[in-house]
Amino acid sequence: MILKEKNESQEAIPQAEYAISKWHDTDEIYGRLKELLKSPLRPIRRDKIGGVLEYFETKCKGSRKIATAAEAVIPGGVQHNLAFNYPFPLAIDQARGAYLRDVDGNTYIDFLQAGGPTLLGSNYEPVKEKIKSLLDECGPTTGLLHEYEVKLAEIICKHMPGVEMFRMLGSGTEAVMGAIRLARAYTGKRHVIKMGGGYHGWSDSMVYGMRIPGTGRHEATGIPKGATASTEESFPGDLGALRRKLWLNRLRGGTAAVIVEPLGPESGTRPVHFDYNRQLREICDSFGALLIFDEVVTGFRVGLGGAQGFFGVRPDLTIFGKCLTGGYPMAGGIGGRKDIMMLLAGGLSANGKRAFVGGTLSANPLSCAAGYFSIQEMERTNAPVLAGRAGDRLSRGLQGIIERLRLPYVAYNQGSIVHLQTSGVLLMSLRNPLKVLREAKERKHVMEEMGAAYSAHGMITLAGSRMYTSMADTDDIIDEALNRFESVFKLV
Ligand SMILES: Cc1ncc(COP(=O)(O)O)c(C=O)c1O
Repeated sequence: MILKEKNESQEAIPQAEYAISKWHDTDEIYGRLKELLKSPLRPIRRDKIGGVLEYFETKCKGSRKIATAAEAVIPGGVQHNLAFNYPFPLAIDQARGAYLRDVDGNTYIDFLQAGGPTLLGSNYEPVKEKIKSLLDECGPTTGLLHEYEVKLAEIICKHMPGVEMFRMLGSGTEAVMGAIRLARAYTGKRHVIKMGGGYHGWSDSMVYGMRIPGTGRHEATGIPKGATASTEESFPGDLGALRRKLWLNRLRGGTAAVIVEPLGPESGTRPVHFDYNRQLREICDSFGALLIFDEVVTGFRVGLGGAQGFFGVRPDLTIFGKCLTGGYPMAGGIGGRKDIMMLLAGGLSANGKRAFVGGTLSANPLSCAAGYFSIQEMERTNAPVLAGRAGDRLSRGLQGIIERLRLPYVAYNQGSIVHLQTSGVLLMSLRNPLKVLREAKERKHVMEEMGAAYSAHGMITLAGSRMYTSMADTDDIIDEALNRFESVFKLV
């Protein structure tokens, strides 16, 4: 079922508080993405790609040396399965505001933003000063209660409409794992439905239907079938299919939760219609399933009230990560309704039924203070909105260049999350398996080459297809970035 924009409900959103100035015309974006997938690939020209790769060989010798050493002791030479490593990873030794510097002294405009967390800009001084003084006082951890645990929970509960209580954990992955256990404990039901193509971390039950909808256990190497037996994926945007799954599950243990990224799978790479989340809320209510918003990316980036505040939809549980600690380590947490959250009651004296979660370093003072002061600074500076304006400028500028150069590429943004699809690989689906088989590899390589070309022109992106903007991105920085994107696009 294709859902239509509901502008009247959008008008109710207090735009001044949110990074997204206007929800996009979702059908129009899908139309352009469809065209991109149909049109011939437009990679960097073969006589130009040599120049791109030469940048790495001649200007990044220090990075090359570290990357070679990494390959000997780190599987694949990088520590995350989603890390960009073409032609080899750059080694960074300085991060300031909107810029990164690699070990060879090259500077880059930083649109990776550590994968999303540094909404205030990298290495933000006011937070760093607070962390330094905390470290002087009590070090990173004591294992006992610290006031910043409470302050962090309070500031989150104040801003996030669906959060009455908060439990801090170590990462988004851990928080998703905990929330699923919690949903099953609370509802007594079994199945969990995610959207195909969505990413919710790498726990056993969530390595399912990743990136390409319909791929199920494709990446589930080392995961027993039993671990994903109660996980299902539904095609993103297809609420009819979701309803059918919920009906069917009624006959076989019920659905404990539907978990979604509220902008759409892969941080809005497959964007939803404005009214989608409200409809999800209604469907979950009518089947007695909990609605979990995975706000690892959107939490504080879309606004201090998250995507739930922007869409005006209250999930039962919310997953936090990334911006939760402003780029400092151990960013993960679960927030939600008090009656559900109480099943996470910690401590040796807690009695009765509970969903067991925890971690030696969870809620350490360093991470909690980093979170508290980062969110406080976001509040003070209006960082989500400023970063969103930079995202609007970048996205608008990219659209202009794409049109002017008559390229089939697609650029759009949801506030400070800017999508740039040049090969369309992220939009492929197993609804057309032959096309995936025939074209996915080549399309992925085109995306990698574009990513390398952006780096060679002094810009770090997320795998060549996404840019996160931050409060540090001034108009001048964005305009300079647009000049560089134009130079890259002239190589195709
Ligand atoms: C939407 C979403 N959920 C969960 C995760 C996993 O979080 P973490 O990497 O902190 O485990 C990510 C990470 O990128 C994410 O984007």
